[in-house]
Amino acid sequence: MPTDLVVTPLAGVLKGSVPVASDKSIGHRALLFGALANGKSRISGFSYGEDNRSTATALAAMGITVEETGPSEIVVHGKGLFGLTAPVKPLDCGNSGTTMRLFSGLLAAQSFDSVLVGDASLSKRPMMRVAKPLRARGAKIDGEPHPKKEGEIVAPLRITGLRDDQFLTGLEFESPVASAQVKSALLLSGLYAHGPTRVREPHVSRDHTERMMMSLGVPLNTVGTLVEIDPEGWSGEMPAFEVEVPGDISAAAFMMVAAAICKGSAVTVRGVGTNPTRTGIIEIIRNMGADVHVIARGERSGEPVADISVTAADLYGRRIGGEVVTRAIDEIPIVCALAARASGVTEIFDAAELRVKESDRLGTMAHVLSTFGVTVEERPDGLLITGKDSPLTACEIDSKDDHRIAMTATVLGLLADGQSLVRDVDCIATSFPRFVGTLRALGATIEAVSR
Ligand code: S3P
Repeated sequence: MPTDLVVTPLAGVLKGSVPVASDKSIGHRALLFGALANGKSRISGFSYGEDNRSTATALAAMGITVEETGPSEIVVHGKGLFGLTAPVKPLDCGNSGTTMRLFSGLLAAQSFDSVLVGDASLSKRPMMRVAKPLRARGAKIDGEPHPKKEGEIVAPLRITGLRDDQFLTGLEFESPVASAQVKSALLLSGLYAHGPTRVREPHVSRDHTERMMMSLGVPLNTVGTLVEIDPEGWSGEMPAFEVEVPGDISAAAFMMVAAAICKGSAVTVRGVGTNPTRTGIIEIIRNMGADVHVIARGERSGEPVADISVTAADLYGRRIGGEVVTRAIDEIPIVCALAARASGVTEIFDAAELRVKESDRLGTMAHVLSTFGVTVEERPDGLLITGKDSPLTACEIDSKDDHRIAMTATVLGLLADGQSLVRDVDCIATSFPRFVGTLRALGATIEAVSR
């Protein structure tokens, strides 16, 4: 039964201090490296978003025991770099692009065949960005032709295992997009390659893979936008590890922006990962005028962690483009909510990548904003949003099965002139299963209705 949310305009303010879902990107990598390490790795602070579950289930289908040992703890019984076994069925990546793209790199280096499938949204997303460089190093990976884009492929991805006399070669690759998924797929395949892997990207995308590989003794170097691994002389052994996954700044962003745009509000999100490749949202909120206070809380497994407090203030439209977009790539939908309340115009540019996320997020957000009565112009690589101070128009929004659109529409609903309805919100569990409960804890009135 699909669920809708009835969002009541906020009568008072948002106030309080809350934890958020665990970092989805780090969760995927912890599971994956746990499987490739030798022995039992313990992952704590894990909040079971559905995307992370897709990764866990796919690993289990390849002979890895993934044990839920507590309400937020998982133990992965790793079998080493060569311990995966052939799956008997296609591996279902659900809605998770990270699962599909990271696994494509990992599976291209195995000796068995595999097939990667996903849900309707994932099956529309471009996969040539990983297939092309993987093929260049000797991988055999094929997909279905994209129905509209010549030369592009989509899932199902069919990966043919390497026979005894075949191997992946070294690779020099200049990625046209700043993508941690592409970079990670190439680094993972590089663990098995006969020769170094060098990947350069236009801006540094999130570097969780690099941090985890380095902490596990993989010979990896980074210089600016270049990352390199050279497995020559490396034992190929990774020790089992313990990792506590920090809170996801991409989940925290919804609470931070809600606090910034609801007058009189002050919210703290606790234990949030503040890896500098992810903190674009902090800079954007500050730059638009709200007060953001970051209190460092040390490091968890090589990742910086902090409590972040946001206090509402007058907001001002800004130009948002360039490398900050890469460091806030998943936060652009909720940045649109900031822009909707800022005085003047906010121009978001250099953000064409948003068109190939869980939905076409530029098209979807243009629709959401205009339905809420906000003036917006859609551009090929961004949006031009004119903020307004008066209440938004209460409305009905379809999530398009995109978790970040559903959460953004819910936050916008807090500022409307009546109750709004956000349809099909089950997708929120992809990344932030307790989103509604967290907003309620801060003072919002939101009712979930099953149809
Ligand atoms: C992710 C990388 C980003 C991001 C996604 C998670 C990751 O995608 O949008 O939500 O964990 O590597 P791209 O690599 O396509 O930019």
